[in-house]
Amino acid sequence: VNKTAGRDVVSYIPFERGSPVACYRQIYEGYRAAVLSGRLRPGQRLPSSRALAAELGISRLPVLTAFEQLVQEGYIEGRVGSGTYVRDGIPEGLSGAAPDSTGPTRSASGMRPRRPQADAGRSTGMLGTGLGPFRASLPALDRFPRATWARLVARHARGLPLELMAYGDPAGYEDLREAIADYLRAARAVRCDASQVLIVSGSQMALQLCAMALLGRDDVLCMEEPGYWGARDALALSGATVVPVPVDGEGIDVDRVAAVGPRARVAYVTPSHQYPLGMFMTASRRLELLRWAQRNDAWIVEDDYDSEYRYASRPLGTLQGMDEASRVIYVGTFSKVLFPALRVGYLVVPRELLESFVRVRVSLDLFAPTLYQVVLADFLREGHFARHVRRMRALYLRRRDALVESLQRHLGGVLTVEHADAGLHLSAYLADGLDDLAVVRGLEERGVFATALSKCYAGGAPRSGLILGFGAADERVTDRAVRTLARVIREAS
Ligand SMILES: Cc1ncc(COP(=O)(O)O)c(C=O)c1O
Repeated sequence: VNKTAGRDVVSYIPFERGSPVACYRQIYEGYRAAVLSGRLRPGQRLPSSRALAAELGISRLPVLTAFEQLVQEGYIEGRVGSGTYVRDGIPEGLSGAAPDSTGPTRSASGMRPRRPQADAGRSTGMLGTGLGPFRASLPALDRFPRATWARLVARHARGLPLELMAYGDPAGYEDLREAIADYLRAARAVRCDASQVLIVSGSQMALQLCAMALLGRDDVLCMEEPGYWGARDALALSGATVVPVPVDGEGIDVDRVAAVGPRARVAYVTPSHQYPLGMFMTASRRLELLRWAQRNDAWIVEDDYDSEYRYASRPLGTLQGMDEASRVIYVGTFSKVLFPALRVGYLVVPRELLESFVRVRVSLDLFAPTLYQVVLADFLREGHFARHVRRMRALYLRRRDALVESLQRHLGGVLTVEHADAGLHLSAYLADGLDDLAVVRGLEERGVFATALSKCYAGGAPRSGLILGFGAADERVTDRAVRTLARVIREAS
């Protein structure tokens, strides 16, 4: 019997002709288990009794008897003229993740067992879906040049050559890799050629490749503290031990990295715009970190997620560009400069690591979808990308100024902004005694979503504060959100 797929496919149930268990009983138990385990979901259609009988090579009677019983017990229902469906309202805890044959499992406490992805759930929650003010990772989507993009998508969707519909290069579409290499050399002083550029599905996947290519269970990963929880989760997939290393005003504390000893294989840093606090890593600190990597044959993962936007001065060069010894894996993304749902990011990998990165990339999902790579290559080559970044930089500068001004007006003395010179967000410390989690909850109740700074700490002494995005919403909307924030804080104090 086939697996459940479309409406005309017969759902899989274990069935054995000639078994001592009666046919109707096997069918009844098979479907009951499938519903209880959640393999068949409410609203999903069962095969017709005729199709199922034919598939199993038996008469219709046992099938009808089994369905009859399942209807009576409330697992399925017949809808006149349209078929038989799994019923809505199977009690919560029954239609969850319980294993097939045993029905619902409960732990000793009577609670449902925790799913292993509980932490990943926390992370997606932190990024948040949807729109609105304060979203830390969101660009001004309404300003994206959609007409141009649509023209390029249509052009290529219609005219994609057959060879580009076949399997593609695991490293990515050649023209796009060339365009990215040109851009990175010119705008970010990255030392690379196109052969070192790997196209992936967002920087999240880039970090996953780093985890799998660079780290093993016995290794240690040094992670900025506070730091980007998304990177921590991705790199921890390797099974390596994650050691949070505090950042100070100059960046990650390299002495503390060195003190970890030879097991430290990778340091993850955001040198152009520390996530979440916002300072840049000073030149002397960069050199220290590069020296550490070189001395210890260790690797540095440089996450350069939003450095196109720097307001106080020209964009800083990259750590990768200062690296004489090829110890840096550079990670970039189009999520902030274009839009996150595009899911295109890239890595620049030292030559000696290329083969192992490509091997891991192939094992994960072979290669990135070609259509958007082709579109993006044109978007870069035809100058749309540069124009968009230029416009957005001016827009975000205004929005940054407006947020800082609004925070001072409504919350001066309660919130302290320290670094707001780059990117799409700023971090602000809350005055003593104010719990950022409570503030974020209060905001959420009023439909505004911000990130609590304390969530970015893996260690024991988190600071209370807020990560506030200013890219996605216009000044008026942001000002209203700041006034809501002021109200929430007043109530919490
Ligand atoms: C530090 C950092 N790196 C990377 C990203 C972007 O991830 P992606 O390219 O997977 O969308 C974000 C987004 O929030 C981020 O804050």
